[in-house]
Amino acid sequence: MKEIESNNQAWSKLAEEHYKHYKKELLEGTHKLNPIITRELPDLSGKRVIHLQCNTGADSLLLAKLADHVTGVDISRENVFFARKMAEELGYENTDFIACDVLEIADKLNEKYDMVFTSEGVLGWLPDLDKWAQNVRACLKDDGVFYIFDSHPFYMMLDESKLEKEEYFVKYPYFGKQPDVDDTIGGYASEPVGGVKAYFWMHTVSEIINSLIGAGLHIVFFNEYTFNFFDSGGMSPSKAEGLWEYPYNEDKYPMSYSLMATVYPGRRERK
Ligand SMILES: C[S@@+](CC[C@H](N)C(=O)[O-])C[C@H]1O[C@@H](n2cnc3c(N)ncnc32)[C@H](O)[C@@H]1O
Repeated sequence: MKEIESNNQAWSKLAEEHYKHYKKELLEGTHKLNPIITRELPDLSGKRVIHLQCNTGADSLLLAKLADHVTGVDISRENVFFARKMAEELGYENTDFIACDVLEIADKLNEKYDMVFTSEGVLGWLPDLDKWAQNVRACLKDDGVFYIFDSHPFYMMLDESKLEKEEYFVKYPYFGKQPDVDDTIGGYASEPVGGVKAYFWMHTVSEIINSLIGAGLHIVFFNEYTFNFFDSGGMSPSKAEGLWEYPYNEDKYPMSYSLMATVYPGRRERK
């Protein structure tokens, strides 16, 4: 699909800068899983984890400190190259990385995992959540757990440039099917890079939840938060380290969510 390939090329342009940024932060000990993720993750000791859309692997390495082994997956070969390099340079022997579209990862798997993890800027890059959820299911052991933390669709529909002034304008239609196309990418771990075509799809809350249910998963929790994992303009660091919030938004609208799911017992594979 040309849009997915275009996103691949866009993300690849950031790979080296992201690697430098995250390697420095990991060495300084300033790169951490956000406190919501840290609080909600189950005990991963002895577990094998697959981390979807891992970028240059910074969070994969944090997960690898908690788990027995982490496999990172990203569509960009450049990201995977730098993820492997970072893991080697920082002495992680319990990781590996696969360059693959997450919508096709089921065909590349050599094993099933105890946990599928994905977070912070992931679903919008994918055109087809039903296919995504089927691939998530294919990665999981029958007693495996799926976890996601991402921007909330309610926040994603609003014009981010107006939120600082507490003005609400629906810029990205909640039920819209056409992707938003941006000519720049990045900006959170590197300078933004132009000259790209980055396609970003809106997915509603029901689409996210129903895609997972349709793939045979059982939702354990769906939580909504008034803060987010990045500053979309004029936000303040929240009390919870590593997250961002608007001081006016103690109780107004959700900016991020988390969801945990297990395999629905009736949909476990028969031995
Ligand atoms: C915002 S970054 C996610 C970073 C993430 N928070 C992490 O763990 O570092 C989005 C990532 O999704 C990847 N991506 C986009 N479309 C993809 C696809 N179809 N399959 C696999 N990875 C994809 C990009 O290459 C990029 O690294």
